[in-house]
Amino acid sequence: MTYRKYLNMSRDQLIKKLEQVVTKERLMHMIGVEETCIHLALLNDYDTEKAGLAGLLHDYAKNLSDAEFLRLIKDYQLDETLKQWNNNIWHGFVGIYKIQEDLGLTDKGILQAIKYHTTGSSQMSLLDKIVYVADYIEPNRDFPGVDEARNIAEVSLDKAVAYETAQTISYLVKKRLPIHPQTLQTYNAYVHHLNEE
Ligand SMILES: [Fe+2]
Ligand SMILES: [Fe+2]
Repeated sequence: MTYRKYLNMSRDQLIKKLEQVVTKERLMHMIGVEETCIHLALLNDYDTEKAGLAGLLHDYAKNLSDAEFLRLIKDYQLDETLKQWNNNIWHGFVGIYKIQEDLGLTDKGILQAIKYHTTGSSQMSLLDKIVYVADYIEPNRDFPGVDEARNIAEVSLDKAVAYETAQTISYLVKKRLPIHPQTLQTYNAYVHHLNEE
């Protein structure tokens, strides 16, 4: 896979850059998401290069410090309510500004898919859905329900979005953790797909 259409560097050079900004385990996960994004793109007639790059970059900002996220929120005058959240939300919503700074990536579709990869949204593009689902089912993932999610993703991306979102909300409730309003919007927009055959 080459990402020259979107980036001024080879995939090998990009991997070297990623080694400097995320942990080894995180990079393994990002490469797993890249591979799964390419698979889902082939299944759903989508551009494999675009999907692969979005997957490979989706957690670029995961290991940034909180101070760096707060700096980005300030510099780009982002929504103040973002400050109530944490790395889980910031590495997508705010991380895309770091990706633009560091890599010069400008593709709006890729940046949007990375922005929403944790929460989804009520109106997801095909690329948004591919990255959201691939993040959940990539080969390194191992948790109850992951095989069910993998099976659903082979058949229907919309149903996989719904399944993943319902599982995520159940998990957050069980752990007594807050749920981002956009995760609830994703659930409301996609839950009906769970009742499809
Ligand atoms: Fe993430
Ligand atoms: Fe991820």
